[in-house]
Amino acid sequence: MEYTLITGATGYLGKAFACECLKRKQNLYLTGRSEDSLTLLREELLSLYPARDIQIFPCDLSDEKSRAALYSDAENYKFSRLINVAGADIQKAFYLYDEQKLTFQIRANFEGAVSMCNFCLKHRAEALRIINISSICGEYAMPYFAIYSATKGALTNFSLALAREWRGKGVFVTAILPGAIHTRPDVEEYIKTQGIWGRIAAKTPEYVAMKSLNASDKGIRKKVIGAANKLVYYGSALVPGAIKTALISKKWSSTQKDAF
Ligand SMILES: NC(=O)c1ccc[n+]([C@@H]2O[C@H](COP(=O)([O-])OP(=O)(O)OC[C@H]3O[C@@H](n4cnc5c(N)ncnc54)[C@H](OP(=O)(O)O)[C@@H]3O)[C@@H](O)[C@H]2O)c1
Repeated sequence: MEYTLITGATGYLGKAFACECLKRKQNLYLTGRSEDSLTLLREELLSLYPARDIQIFPCDLSDEKSRAALYSDAENYKFSRLINVAGADIQKAFYLYDEQKLTFQIRANFEGAVSMCNFCLKHRAEALRIINISSICGEYAMPYFAIYSATKGALTNFSLALAREWRGKGVFVTAILPGAIHTRPDVEEYIKTQGIWGRIAAKTPEYVAMKSLNASDKGIRKKVIGAANKLVYYGSALVPGAIKTALISKKWSSTQKDAF
């Protein structure tokens, strides 16, 4: 049997991916940090899709020992899909970080995702499709969101490089660049502050999951989700970098987020 491995399955977007993959008749190997949340999620998903096999294993992706435990549990499975959803969107001025927060966010957003890619490549089914959930934020230097935007940018570039390394060899890599997604209450509050733009640009987790899987199936390497976000993405390419950074700095200096 082949499996789809989903990180961050206990989050809003991860769960939407799990449901969409089950609709597409895939068996799942789900991970998140909390064993209790994973167990509840598994029960809920199995009640909806009893014919599928769903495995769970708790893992802190920012900890290499925890990752090693997952790799040991999963070593006899074959993976036809990996969806790296887990991420931490801590948002604050860089000097407010302590060492622990800094390493946590960098490892969860980049090191963990890259390590999962390496594992799944070594335990792949005949073909492997990788989806890395990056962000449109990764396209910009973002003051007050510097670690998030830098790690998401790194994940996008890594995905594009990996896609090329495996071109024509049965491995397809897609970087997904969503804008805001209707998820946690603090994210919903942020979307509300964006007024009409927030209402137009923000997408549901179900929409993002469906579009991402479609893009992956078509072999698309980089996909911006939503027409409004595409407009920003292509339109902002015409604006000089220093101006973009100054505008972002003004807009983001008043927001702080730390749900982790
Ligand atoms: N929401 C948005 O507006 C938005 C926009 C663009 C991109 N994204 C990206 O989409 C992804 C999912 O976001 P979401 O809104 O669904 O967030 P969420 O509901 O907060 O879920 C985050 C998920 O990541 C997991 N996670 C965090 N740190 C981890 C770690 N060290 N080890 C293992 N798992 C860890 C969490 O697991 P626990 O259950 O253990 O906490 C949770 O399952 C993230 O990569 C985010 O950057 C989100």
